[in-house]
Amino acid sequence: MEKKFKRTLVTSALPYANGPVHIGHLAGVYVPADIYVRYLRLKGEDVLFIGGSDEHGVPVTIRAKKEGITPQDVVDRYHNIIKESFEGFGISFDVYSRTTSQTHRELASEFFRKLYDDGKFVEMESEQYYDEGEQQFLTDRNIRGECPRCHAADAYGDQCEKCGATLSPDELINPYNADSGNKLVKRKTSHWYLPLDAYQPWLEQWILNDHKEWRSNVYGQCKSWLDTGLKPRAVTRDLNWGIPVPVEGAEGKVLYVWFDAPIGYISNTKELLPDTWEQWWKSEDTRLVHFIGKDNIVFHCIVFPSMLKAHGDYVLPDNVPSNEFLNLEDDKISTSRNWAVWLNEYLVDFPGKQDVLRYVLTANAPETKDNNFTWKDFQARNNNELVAVYGNFVNRALVLTKKYFDGKVPACGELTDYDKAIIDEFVNVKERVENLLDQYKFREAQKEAMELARIGNRYLAETEPWKLAKTDMNRVATILNLSLQLVANLSIVFEPFLPFSSKKLREMLNIENFEWTSLGSTTLLCEGHELGEVGLLFEKIEDDAIQAQLDRLERIKKENEAANYKANPIRPECTFDDFMKLDMRVGTVLECTKVPKADKLLQFKIDDGLATRTILSGVAKHFNPEELVGKQVCFIANLPPRTMRGIVSEGMILSAEDNEGKLSLLTVAPNAKPGSEIK
Ligand code: 2FM
Ligand code: ZN
Repeated sequence: MEKKFKRTLVTSALPYANGPVHIGHLAGVYVPADIYVRYLRLKGEDVLFIGGSDEHGVPVTIRAKKEGITPQDVVDRYHNIIKESFEGFGISFDVYSRTTSQTHRELASEFFRKLYDDGKFVEMESEQYYDEGEQQFLTDRNIRGECPRCHAADAYGDQCEKCGATLSPDELINPYNADSGNKLVKRKTSHWYLPLDAYQPWLEQWILNDHKEWRSNVYGQCKSWLDTGLKPRAVTRDLNWGIPVPVEGAEGKVLYVWFDAPIGYISNTKELLPDTWEQWWKSEDTRLVHFIGKDNIVFHCIVFPSMLKAHGDYVLPDNVPSNEFLNLEDDKISTSRNWAVWLNEYLVDFPGKQDVLRYVLTANAPETKDNNFTWKDFQARNNNELVAVYGNFVNRALVLTKKYFDGKVPACGELTDYDKAIIDEFVNVKERVENLLDQYKFREAQKEAMELARIGNRYLAETEPWKLAKTDMNRVATILNLSLQLVANLSIVFEPFLPFSSKKLREMLNIENFEWTSLGSTTLLCEGHELGEVGLLFEKIEDDAIQAQLDRLERIKKENEAANYKANPIRPECTFDDFMKLDMRVGTVLECTKVPKADKLLQFKIDDGLATRTILSGVAKHFNPEELVGKQVCFIANLPPRTMRGIVSEGMILSAEDNEGKLSLLTVAPNAKPGSEIK
């Protein structure tokens, strides 16, 4: 039997405060969580939406070191940027706090201490890499060395980015500290571990039997972890950034970031409701739902629940609707490669268009598999769906009412069979949308909402009230009444998805609020009600705005290519005499043409300062011959002549070739005289 809950506690993953947030975050976690919460609030349910920044962890310390500032400076900066971005997109948290807050430090320490006192941890000694110069233990990510598989020089302690292998620091050849460059030694250290293996039987029952309804991607990942067999996990680290381990003799140790971060959900609730937070966390009547991305599944379905179980006082999640990943223009979103659409930048580039991104990200939500964001699709969905369907219907209904009825809702006369058929199509929308939202199917739910706008558009297109206006104003009144009722329904059904537009629409309708329960009603607006000012609900996005974004990405791609470029190794030594044997000269290109039937060859006529010479060069794929005429090129003048395709070639044009085979012609300053020797 389905359990009855009194309240819903929704959490969304706490983003790391070591960089701004991007569309992947929004699509994967915050938009779906916000839709869900807004929906529950509209239904009048008791709901809390908890957010905050995850401010500990090694990446923060790495960035601080790179920039020569403190970790606290780093998190202060990004916490504010992230918080503002979420506000900008209308992510309606009840609280957005941070894991460096005093409340959190205390609660996370207490949590650890209780588990410690109750004997829930195992203390174990192990050998870890240590930098004697810096006097510090290193985390996996901070250790670099040669990859044992592909022999790339700078693989990380947990992964080689060149060949993709998952590694452990012990496998690296000649490991070193990524920051200091120092060689590493092994040193003994002791840590506290949560023995996940002890929770395995319970987890198998709780997830695999009791939560078969979880999304298949979540359930599948849990099953695979459980099938492999769980091992104890260290919950402390040797680091100086984090919450100190509250145990005597644990100096220099902090709580592992993944131990303290999920406790942040509890501390942030406590910060919001200092007197009543326990009602939310310690009552069986609470339905706890974690919205996360797929890289967080193990922590939210296995590690955190085991921590909660070990503690004993807290509720366990009822569901963990995790999304897969969103790619950007067919490439993985990456903070370090700057391959992302940053939310703070979007808000500047597309002011007032928060709902467009919300809409597109939900329409393409990576709910069951990875999905892709492209700027062309963004533009198409805006122009062809939001503008051409939703906006167009609303605009026609309102403008016609202004025109024929002075902006007042006209009376609904007798309904035709066609009107009744239209009503039949949308009266069940509430049930359909609720059903989908209750199952966390946001993408389909939004489609249902859009369907309502399509119905409206079709209704106006088929009834053509502007034609009837000459002959039958009663009929026009009925059509517009029904259309306006549909418009009002749209403002309700889209409220969880597109809150800014719903607000705008309500202003145009001159209505403060509608109840979610009235969704599907055909009597939302009374006869004679005066509409507000009519404007455009959505605006077309022009090609140049999209091109600017594509140009930006192209620039980033080039920068990344340049940054990642590694030249070929240097060839074996040659003598100075060998070099001096080559007679390299400057020449002016007099003519340059394609050689017929040889698609690689270009034929150059060069002024070499003494005569005109012919050189054939296999560069036709790389250069446009016309563009080379008049250029100063460099060539080798004393190679023996070679005949190709019946033409004698007297030398070799020089160009620079990168290790991917891309050519750039070698040129000299234009004032170099033809025939000048290159030395
Ligand atoms: O993956 C991340 O961005 C983590 N900072 C998420 C933490 S979620 C929770 F545990 F706080
Ligand atoms: Zn490798």
